Amino acid sequence: MAQRFSTDVLIIGGGAAGLSAALQLAEYARVTVLCKGDITTGSSHWAQGGVAAVTAPEDSFAAHVQDTLDAGAGLCDRRIVEMTVESAPAAIARLAQLGVDFDREENEFHLTREGGHSARRVLHVADATGKAITETLTSRVLDHPNIELINDRLAIDLINLSKLGRYPSRCAGAYVLNRSTGHVEVFQAPFVVLATGGASKVYLYTSNPDSSTGDGIAMAWRAGCRIANMEFNQFHPTCLYHPHAGSYLISEAVRGEGGVLKLPDGERFMPRFDERAELAPRDVVARAIDHEMRRLGADCVQLDISHRRAEFIRAHFPNIAERCMAFGIDITREAIPVVPAAHYTCGGVLVDRFGRTDLPNLYAIGEVSYTGLHGANRLASNSLLECLVFAYNAAQKIKSQLDRPFDLPNLPHWDESQVTDSDESVVIAHNWDELRRFMWDYVGIVRTNKRLQRAQHRIDLLKQEINEYYANYRISDDLIELRNLLHVAELIVRSALKRTESRGLHFNLDYPHTRNQVEDTIMFPGSIDHFDMLKPTA
Ligand code: FAD
Ligand code: SIN
Repeated sequence: MAQRFSTDVLIIGGGAAGLSAALQLAEYARVTVLCKGDITTGSSHWAQGGVAAVTAPEDSFAAHVQDTLDAGAGLCDRRIVEMTVESAPAAIARLAQLGVDFDREENEFHLTREGGHSARRVLHVADATGKAITETLTSRVLDHPNIELINDRLAIDLINLSKLGRYPSRCAGAYVLNRSTGHVEVFQAPFVVLATGGASKVYLYTSNPDSSTGDGIAMAWRAGCRIANMEFNQFHPTCLYHPHAGSYLISEAVRGEGGVLKLPDGERFMPRFDERAELAPRDVVARAIDHEMRRLGADCVQLDISHRRAEFIRAHFPNIAERCMAFGIDITREAIPVVPAAHYTCGGVLVDRFGRTDLPNLYAIGEVSYTGLHGANRLASNSLLECLVFAYNAAQKIKSQLDRPFDLPNLPHWDESQVTDSDESVVIAHNWDELRRFMWDYVGIVRTNKRLQRAQHRIDLLKQEINEYYANYRISDDLIELRNLLHVAELIVRSALKRTESRGLHFNLDYPHTRNQVEDTIMFPGSIDHFDMLKPTA
């Protein structure tokens, strides 16, 4: 019989959001953090540029708010933007107190610049800010007697008490695959926090690590939560283009420190597209690169910072310089070949300022959530900030309810009695590839109604296959993630089809203009009918 565990707060995800929330809560409650790999599996570990926060006397909250609203193309929630921006200095102070050693110059924070920011305001640790943050948070978490961090556990579905009868709707835990034993375990808790990151793995080319399969978005949707703004997937303009590089980002800070984008013949092209040139918001730069690559039939464009001093480049971008050198590219002397790739999921599980979802006692924080901060396009380095601020807010809200005990019933075990082992893992691998490829081709930087409809048709076909698989065969991590990617792909395509304009990251050639009147955030109600708490499904 698989095991059953109970805790006060179950946090699913061990990136910047999940680990920060755990540390905030551990003084008051027993906390369990689940990670589907180890700490390097989340995007947080790979973050390069830094964390946006107003710390310089010449900068202001008003300017950071305005830059965020401008990037968000009319869809940000101003109150959420103001709250987040004003909470940033305290979030930075908490990190510094925990031991994150942000770069300094003459005793002040060294601030770098990124696209869409009207001032230097991005705090960083060279070009490996995420690593510094996650390593510090992890060491604090591991030292804390009230926190248990468990790796190699893949949450499959959330448990809603109402499905057991006799109980009101309330999240009470999750079914979780132990990747070492292959058994499905029950984790029960009166409070559950989703911190599972984004879904950029739904695209063939992405800057994200393998973990970004949208599990939290799909789980919350199946559990009945509204999902918002999924048509807005951010494509980072500059990922390294090299056959053996995999997904490797070249930070926007390279452009912030003077890097220019050039065509294969050496022409600088961004000034033709936007007066802010290389430092225009990401949607503008990614679209311009895509346009030029298609126009010229080019495989990539070039990002050149070699005009800056070699010592400056090596000091500010030591990891990028080393990684490029491993592929024979000396960035102090030559340009870097780059292409856009899927980078950030601006939509997600709809939450309020405390990270509360539609399902009572379920919270969502970090990239899995839609808070209203990013609107139609995220401003660079506002994501780690959102993780920190909403982790803090959610922890405060949970803390205020811990003294209201709730006796959870024993939750039923996962039923695998009617499934068999599959010998067709090749089918799952093929479907993964097919899904990611047509999402890239039909639902990428530039869309049309016809391409979106084609994608929807293929999703419908894949859904039949995957549902049959899920119902009849023993689950595997690949199958769980594929099912989640498919649900996320469907939410992206349906949202994109609903938006009859181009705005921010969503560009549709059939509706190339932005409506004067702001179209609302597009939301999909949770698909509680999909909810299959116990295997096998019908
Ligand atoms: P993640 O850090 O992605 O963590 C998700 C966690 O959930 C992981 O531990 C994963 O194992 C776990 N998980 C997922 N699914 C499951 C499941 N089913 N069961 C159990 N565990 C699960 N943003 C900035 O603000 N500044 C930057 O400089 C910056 N640079 C970036 C560079 C790169 C290369 C990338 C990819 C992103 C960057 N971003 C940056 C974006 C930012 O890093 C992410 O949005 C942010 O780190 C997300 O944090 P998170 O805690 O929400 O999720
Ligand atoms: C980068 O360093 O370019 C990534 C910053 C971000 O995604 O916010």
